[in-house]
Amino acid sequence: MYHQNLEEFPENFLWGSASAAYQIEGAFDEDGKGPSVWDTFSKIPGKTFENTNGDIAIDHYHRYKEDVRLMAEMGLKAYRFSVAWSRIIPDGEGEINEKGLSFYENLVDELLLYGIEPVLTLYHWDMPQALQDKYNGWESREVIGSFKKYCKALFERLGNKVKYWVTFNEQNVFTAMGYRWETHPPNVSDVKRMFEANHVVNLANAEVINLFHEMVPEGLIGPSFGYGPMYPATSNPADILAAENGNDFNNSWWLDIYCKGRYPVFTLKQLKKNGIAPTILPDDEELLVSAKPDFLGINFYHGGTVQENKLEKPIENQHKDRAFSATDPYLMQPKEEQSQSPEIPMFHSVSNPYLEKTNWGWEIDPVGFRVALREVYARYDLPIFVTENGLGAIDELTESGTIEDDYRIDYLNAHILEMKKAITDGVEMIGYCSWSFTDLLSWLNGYKKRYGFVYVDRTEQDVKDLQRIPKKSYYWYKNIIETNGENITNKIEVQK
Ligand code: BG6
Repeated sequence: MYHQNLEEFPENFLWGSASAAYQIEGAFDEDGKGPSVWDTFSKIPGKTFENTNGDIAIDHYHRYKEDVRLMAEMGLKAYRFSVAWSRIIPDGEGEINEKGLSFYENLVDELLLYGIEPVLTLYHWDMPQALQDKYNGWESREVIGSFKKYCKALFERLGNKVKYWVTFNEQNVFTAMGYRWETHPPNVSDVKRMFEANHVVNLANAEVINLFHEMVPEGLIGPSFGYGPMYPATSNPADILAAENGNDFNNSWWLDIYCKGRYPVFTLKQLKKNGIAPTILPDDEELLVSAKPDFLGINFYHGGTVQENKLEKPIENQHKDRAFSATDPYLMQPKEEQSQSPEIPMFHSVSNPYLEKTNWGWEIDPVGFRVALREVYARYDLPIFVTENGLGAIDELTESGTIEDDYRIDYLNAHILEMKKAITDGVEMIGYCSWSFTDLLSWLNGYKKRYGFVYVDRTEQDVKDLQRIPKKSYYWYKNIIETNGENITNKIEVQK
């Protein structure tokens, strides 16, 4: 659709920005916090870039007031953050740690003081280590009860202050990276175990949505999913079919469960054929169908391009063609030694010749963002909250103390413009959170891959003074918020 004039953003559109506990807080063992799987995993030599970890991160735990003040000065309307489960319940299921709860309550109060809408993520990948040890984490249904207890404590304490809640962040990413690619905790490489753990997370998601609706009837809750559209490599109908398979396998596998309570038929059949489908018990379906999210959180970085693949195993040179980043969670490739690669007969990923890439090899695809928003809205008919979108780049602090991140402004401008088109098309949207507000720890790429509007002065090994310095993009976004996005056009003017 081509629009001569774009509609304005809705009046109460939530212009926001986001973060996650492990990536910013630090204070990893303070005030009674128990260890999480990320505290353990990041200490395994060679697992993260230059062995970086979040022990100190950007010390948000002690500097949250300063960070919130910067948000307020920018005019931010919403701030998405996650709660560290092991701060609230150090061993995951026992005593509640009052100091942990108070930290988040103070953060929420501080946000509300400045009229910033808190958006609280319950799980952004940091399972308490004690539950991993005791039950094997998400591989056991025992953990569902523990997760409910933790969520209940937060609903009780913050249900009257926080309206927007996110259950799981990018379930597709943390299950694949953690149980298939050995690049996240619990460091497993087993496709069957991945699908089993993923099913348990689905049940936990459903239980917690139902609990929330009982306890916080005025609030809104939904999962945040890492969505990427699937493009066919050519107009060959066989490639179109491959793209449908890719979409089924990479997107509908999660979104259908969230919104319809059942797995997509073709992928489920394919997994059953390979003996790797999850164990679905008789009562599971009833639970999954009963839980309805109020909105869908969408994290958008990029999608993928696929072609037909009839082979049971990819041929040798197909692997060599692939120039994918080893840390791109959205486009990991089957390992040859991994016999159970269900997608091999369904589709084969290729590079897209029309798209440029970031320094980390992630495709830059603003139009794909519009495609994503339209696809998700058309299929699931729920309002969309963009809970992440942003550019990871190497930023330089100039001698005059500024950060001229025009490339980030270009990236965000292009994506927000496409979002405006999607709204004009008819997509119902709640808000948009960029990733991220401050610079933070990239799980596998250390502190060098920066996403923030606010520069944080530290390197992988040198914590320095963690000084916060607003970048050029900070002032640009401030203006976007002030004008409710009316200046989003093909022409960019930055006011500082
Ligand atoms: C998303 C995560 O997958 O992508 C964030 O929800 C993450 O936590 C972001 O930081 C960017 O990924 P990366 O690997 O570049 O840090």
